[in-house]
Amino acid sequence: MEIITLGNELLRQKAERIIKIDAEVTKIAEELLVTLHQGKGVGLAGPQVGLMKRIFVVHIDQDLPRVFINPVILETSAETVKYEEGCLSIPGVWVEVIRPKTLRVQAWNEQGRSFTQEAEGILARVILHEYDHLEGTLFIDRLSELKRNRILAKLKKRQGV
Ligand code: NI
Repeated sequence: MEIITLGNELLRQKAERIIKIDAEVTKIAEELLVTLHQGKGVGLAGPQVGLMKRIFVVHIDQDLPRVFINPVILETSAETVKYEEGCLSIPGVWVEVIRPKTLRVQAWNEQGRSFTQEAEGILARVILHEYDHLEGTLFIDRLSELKRNRILAKLKKRQGV
């Protein structure tokens, strides 16, 4: 799978629910994980490879890889935390983003089993970041306009536009 980057309109579209978790979806999950590892990232969502389906994968350090299909964020803490974030679709940009500290999410795994999970720390951050991708939202959207414009200007310069 090939990761698409900022400027590709697919990153701005809402992904569709997966109707049936079958062998094809299992294969997609596997391929997303391979692509995630190749990109040396910690999370990757369907839309980032141009696949407009509600699926993302997360793999943080020594943890087991996790697959989230049709995820629903059930709850987020009012308490927020600021942490540096990047995105495989916006290479070379690392910036502090404010997000809820903890959350509760329900989703299905690649075997079609429903699960509910509480998360905090980096895991919570990655889940919220990847969930945003399913909604067509990028982490730069969560910055002040001033900061966002500064980043976009820097990216434009880098691309020589
Ligand atoms: Ni991302």
